[in-house]
Amino acid sequence: MEIRTDYLVIGSGIAGLSFALEAARSGTVAIVTKKEKMEGSTNYAQGGIASVLDPDDSFELHIRDTIESGDGLCNEDVVKMVVRDGPARVQELISMGVHFTRQTDGKKDFDLGREGGHSMRRIVHTKDLTGREVERILLERAEENENIRIYENHMAIDLITKSKMLKRGILTSEIAQTCWGAYVLDVNNNSVITFLAKMTVLASGGAGKVYRYTTNPDIATGDGVAVGYRAGAKVANMEFVQFHPTCLYHPLAKNFLISEAVRGEGAILIDKSGKRFMEKYHPLKDLALRDVVARSIDMELKKSGDECVYLDISHRTPEFIRDRFPYIYETCLRFQIDITKEPIPVVPAAHYMCGGLLTDENGLTNLDNLYAIGEVACTGLHGANRLASNSLLEALIFARRAVEKSSRDLEEKRVTPFPRAPEWDPGDATDSEELVVVSHNWDEIRRFMWNYVGIVRTNNRLARAKRRVNTIQEEIEEYYWDFTVTRDLLELRNIALVAELIITCASLRKESRGLHYNLDYTAQDNKYWKRDTVIWI
Ligand code: FAD
Ligand code: SIN
Repeated sequence: MEIRTDYLVIGSGIAGLSFALEAARSGTVAIVTKKEKMEGSTNYAQGGIASVLDPDDSFELHIRDTIESGDGLCNEDVVKMVVRDGPARVQELISMGVHFTRQTDGKKDFDLGREGGHSMRRIVHTKDLTGREVERILLERAEENENIRIYENHMAIDLITKSKMLKRGILTSEIAQTCWGAYVLDVNNNSVITFLAKMTVLASGGAGKVYRYTTNPDIATGDGVAVGYRAGAKVANMEFVQFHPTCLYHPLAKNFLISEAVRGEGAILIDKSGKRFMEKYHPLKDLALRDVVARSIDMELKKSGDECVYLDISHRTPEFIRDRFPYIYETCLRFQIDITKEPIPVVPAAHYMCGGLLTDENGLTNLDNLYAIGEVACTGLHGANRLASNSLLEALIFARRAVEKSSRDLEEKRVTPFPRAPEWDPGDATDSEELVVVSHNWDEIRRFMWNYVGIVRTNNRLARAKRRVNTIQEEIEEYYWDFTVTRDLLELRNIALVAELIITCASLRKESRGLHYNLDYTAQDNKYWKRDTVIWI
């Protein structure tokens, strides 16, 4: 089966939906999303969106905070552009119907939150359910738009590309790849559809599931990075995996984040005897940057042998806590933890991928007509460590810029008629009965990534991880070509590749910077390593 569209958007989080809504003004949009349409990190975002909305705040301060957090690797032009465009994009969400929490005392408009690394209160939020509110409204708007069609349970397998020779000067020529859409697995019908598109947008989110412990939902298997890399797109800075310091530690809780906004409202980190420890590590204590806090907790746990530390907000009134953090309060209560009375057990967990598909200031990759926006992209905004609540902002800004560029190209270049794409060839594949092998490999990858490529790395651990991932990849390749593709097998193949890319970037960077900390090179090397780690096939 073949479907033709002007724009193919892979992913229905904040990035994909924002792109689709704007692109639908100039063409038809197909959104493919691999599970239910609201299922993505966006839906679980708690803290909010960082933007300069308080008259006492300034663009300069937000720019400075972002650059400091990025530890020498931010692209300053991109930072300036994102910060300056922020207020307009937030206003646009409001005009679509998003309700952000307002102050009750009537003095200032928004109730702005604070998180680590921000010198001002500048985070607009909908209590602690910001992402759910944003996703709900964007989906509502998309569903009422007749130029947009959403295909749930449709998973992109690989991109469709075509190469052409480019002449550069008299003597040299090079190959340029153009993207023409993607092969997509219709999960419910177990068939592969050819989506041909003039413009393709990867908005497939992050890769937290590469790690054993993560705050991310199940969809976060790094598919976009894997799909893009296999097609020849450049990938950058995969070593910078952000670990959130405070994920709920409870045997029955799966991936539940305790927002940094809780520390922004005065919560403190303590050990099991009730002693604060962050003052030993940084003058900003509990509101130091995320890499510092996560590493400090890791160090405390390694020293004490304890399984978790605790986050205590019980000194605030119960009314305040229940009103400001209703989702966190109710979820913890379900696990018999009353956060108005007792500290919350927490551990760090993989949270955000700062690296990704390398793009320019419009979200365009090095493949013609292929864009990457949202968490899947590496735009230069985050550098070596993302500042809290800058990612929803980044997705909004780059979605808009990608539409401006791609719709202009569509109009001006009058993109040539669709090429003929071969149908997906299932070969003589048979259904796999050995699902246990898939889940075993999946577990193994997540375990060694956690143990060897986690918050603190060494050369030996990286080398060990590399050997393991290569063996598993060989096994997956045999499997992949022998059996019919399923969502599980595709995800396994992708997390194995993304794990390999993280290990490769981490092994290349021979220094410690931002989120990458290697005990064999604890110093920062600005002479040689103040640059992105860029790899491609
Ligand atoms: P997502 O929202 O993750 O959407 C990805 C989409 O792609 C999904 O629809 C998924 O199904 C689809 N998809 C993936 N692979 C495929 C495939 N192969 N084929 C088809 N579809 C596919 N950031 C902030 O700025 N502020 C916050 O307060 C904040 N809180 C967070 C809290 C949590 C618990 C988490 C996990 C993250 C948080 N972040 C926050 C980060 C932020 O939420 C994400 O970076 C952002 O939502 C990513 O948006 P996205 O549109 O790129 O991806
Ligand atoms: C949080 O609420 O702590 C998450 C914010 C973010 O990841 O930006």
